[in-house]
Amino acid sequence: MARKRSVFLCKGCGHESLKWLGRCPGCGEWNTFVEEAAPAGKVARSSRRQDPVALSDIRADLTERLVTGIGEFDRTLGGGIVPGSVVLVGGDPGIGKSTLLLQVSDALARAGEIVLYVSGEESGSQLRMRATRLGVESRAIQVLTETDVSRVLEVADSLSPGAVILDSIQTAYRPEAGGSPGSVTQVRESSAALVRLAKETGTPVFLIGHVTKQGAIAGPRILEHMVDTVLYFEGDKRLSYRILRAVKNRYGSTDEIGVFEMTAEGLVEVADPSGIFVSRERGTTSGSVVIGTIEGTRALLVEIQALTGLTNYATPQRSSSGVDRRRLPLVLAVLERRAGLSLGNRDVFVSVAGGVKVEEPAADLGIAAAVASSYYDVPVDPGTALFGEIGLGGEIRRVALAGKRVQEAARLGYRRVVHPKGAIPKSERPEGVEFVEVGFVGEAIDLLIGGRPGTKARERETAGLREA
Ligand SMILES: Nc1ncnc2c1ncn2[C@@H]1O[C@H](COP(=O)(O)OP(=O)(O)OP(=O)(O)O)[C@@H](O)[C@H]1O
Ligand SMILES: [Mg+2]
Ligand SMILES: [Zn+2]
Repeated sequence: MARKRSVFLCKGCGHESLKWLGRCPGCGEWNTFVEEAAPAGKVARSSRRQDPVALSDIRADLTERLVTGIGEFDRTLGGGIVPGSVVLVGGDPGIGKSTLLLQVSDALARAGEIVLYVSGEESGSQLRMRATRLGVESRAIQVLTETDVSRVLEVADSLSPGAVILDSIQTAYRPEAGGSPGSVTQVRESSAALVRLAKETGTPVFLIGHVTKQGAIAGPRILEHMVDTVLYFEGDKRLSYRILRAVKNRYGSTDEIGVFEMTAEGLVEVADPSGIFVSRERGTTSGSVVIGTIEGTRALLVEIQALTGLTNYATPQRSSSGVDRRRLPLVLAVLERRAGLSLGNRDVFVSVAGGVKVEEPAADLGIAAAVASSYYDVPVDPGTALFGEIGLGGEIRRVALAGKRVQEAARLGYRRVVHPKGAIPKSERPEGVEFVEVGFVGEAIDLLIGGRPGTKARERETAGLREA
């Protein structure tokens, strides 16, 4: 009896093998192989043959960007949509991906473009309900409820749209490729077909993708390599703020973020996001500090919260959200060894308010201060903002763009800024703000918490300076 032909594919990189492998030779990951039906026939490749051309003869005006007018979206892309680019928009279920792309479609339609919105997930009437709620009415948005990619290509060919949106890549299907929608083969072949469409016609294509719990786009990682730009739409679903972040961009920086607020009428741009990441109730409770951080070209003021308490477990809990996971143990170790906190029997929780992520080392001082504030149960003055990287010796190091952080703090009414030594020249100091330089983590905590018993002695002790 003839067995059904199948192949094994790596979910991570798409590596193909005839038998199951524990470890992928392609990317080195373990347990990533899945069995899929082998492609039934040859999947058509592009028939168009290309000849070499001199780089200097290629028309550069092809890269003139399409500006949607949704500033936060354009900014994240690096200044608008590049013709012929393929953009993957990932995000957790229900975060607002379809809403965002429908609003982008509307903006493009208003700018005179025809938009082909392909929905494999929702019916036309579901889409219409959302559109009505968002006030999107344009006839220039053509809806195709279809999962077969060949049909999408056909329609795109006859419609010549200004942009194609595919909601979502996990539902896209190429019958000739074998396997079921969402499988490695299907996601790869469907994306490849859409990448070809984009490159051959210059039509920008947006692929919506679901993200798994681990934070990767479900389906092969290979997808991220195939597209030009990967955007993640994220945020704490219980809160209304959403952040659009570029994690890969062939046409711009990956530092930029776009900030939106989800409302009943759809996503509203938050052009001045700094204030939203600081809760209004702060000031009376311990464990909360405000730091000046940089996201892309923008300075943001962000609240870091910490909670410490005696543990009930053999190993104390360390948990963080929104801060760099690798920095937390480092900061805690420095607090123990250089600033006299005794955290070995305490749980430590650290989080950043508002669902924003702060990955830069400039947040170290903020993490340290929040933990210390909770540890001593002494609130930090709510009018103080701070920033600084912490070295292993407990020294506070300078960080980039200090002036920008300070200006933002001053603009939002912070009266005092605690920062690394020499970070801000006198000439760059806004009036009405007190500048306090700190050189050492213990010194910073003494200053922010005030009156810690025995700290100086402990510092000398850890520094090995205690007199015999
Ligand atoms: N009437 C409403 N008022 C406010 N917000 C709403 C309303 N209806 C929907 N939303 C918001 O829109 C979100 C869903 O948006 P959308 O369908 O665009 O998400 P998605 O990322 O495409 O989801 P999926 O993964 O299911 O495709 C909801 O989680 C909710 O936050
Ligand atoms: Mg959706
Ligand atoms: Zn692999």
